[in-house]
Amino acid sequence: MSYPKNFLFGSATSSHQIEGDNKNSDWYNWEIIPGRIRNNDNSLRGDSWQNWRQDIELLKNTNQNAYRMSIEWAKIEPTKGHFNLEAIDNYRQQFKELKKNNIKIMLTLFHFTLPQWVADKGGFANRKNICYFTHFSEKMIEEFGDLVDLWATLNEPNVYVLKGYIEGLWCPGQKNYLNAIKSYFNFIAAHNQAYKAMKKIRPDAQIGPVISVMAFETSKPNVINNIKVFFARQFSYDLFNRLTIKNSDFLGLNYYLKTTFGPKNKSHKKILLSDYNWEISPEGIYQITKEQAHWGIPIYITENGTADAEDKIRPQFIKDHLHWLEKAITEGAPVKGYFHWSLIDNFEWAAGYTMKFGLHTIDRKPRPSAKTYAEQIKKYQQESK
Ligand code: BGC
Repeated sequence: MSYPKNFLFGSATSSHQIEGDNKNSDWYNWEIIPGRIRNNDNSLRGDSWQNWRQDIELLKNTNQNAYRMSIEWAKIEPTKGHFNLEAIDNYRQQFKELKKNNIKIMLTLFHFTLPQWVADKGGFANRKNICYFTHFSEKMIEEFGDLVDLWATLNEPNVYVLKGYIEGLWCPGQKNYLNAIKSYFNFIAAHNQAYKAMKKIRPDAQIGPVISVMAFETSKPNVINNIKVFFARQFSYDLFNRLTIKNSDFLGLNYYLKTTFGPKNKSHKKILLSDYNWEISPEGIYQITKEQAHWGIPIYITENGTADAEDKIRPQFIKDHLHWLEKAITEGAPVKGYFHWSLIDNFEWAAGYTMKFGLHTIDRKPRPSAKTYAEQIKKYQQESK
């Protein structure tokens, strides 16, 4: 068993969560209202907008050959139709530095944040706004198409709809089922339109969506629980995938946890939980990649990680998930890359800085798991030679 040669071993971040300096986005204006974010934290603690070179050093120090990052639409187009050349240049410098170090780039165009002017027009709940996203995507592939290896249009539209339009815990903070349904389908249209427009400019570009997947299971198979599992899969990702697959060169899967329907059995006590109380299941990454292989396009694990402030769980978490992923690949799943979430601790949306997902702390100090990941990458790369 081994990982294919040229397999991408990287980590992932998003602009709003690490960059700081982002006052034109809807999320910034949302998070500064007291009471919305744990400890009233805000994203301005991030400093990667200035100190991105240090992030690239961390990638190099840990043998990573790929980086999934995002660009902040609000920085690039702070007002409608006005593109900020300095911001474009900042990203260009970052991409060039990554290329110089042979680090492949997966670039996400939308990772939960919008320019305030788009949000003011109703964000993704308003179908008329899709054209702005398409235009932004075209502009970005014109600017960066020579440097970016893989394009992720949307990050986890399914989670965004749940948190932002059903639970109301994330920006835009609504509990509005109609807008939830509208934005879900508008995201599908946005992906499809951006894909087609970008392909016209660069037919060889590799473009796909990133969707959150869970290992859904039932502890007691019966009609009701089986139906629950079926609908959970349908609405959280299968429907989205079915309606975008024709316009996707790859499928990005963010996998974190398992969700079990039915009574908790006695072995529940042994279940490993992250600081977020998410149930950790390394086999789940195997299950989900095998299951999603049927679409017949390459798969990237675009996020996988755990909230673990003390780094007690993470080293073994990394080993176990890489082991199960290798098994899926050996059995034919077309997985081309794995991105650990995250390179450094970051602004964890409504949880502020309380949840620590980083291989490195916010001051960029490596946790023991950074070494584990580096060793695992080296080991797998040697085996694949
Ligand atoms: C998101 C990240 C987030 C991570 C951990 C994913 O839902 O894409 O932005 O930080 O999970 O919660």
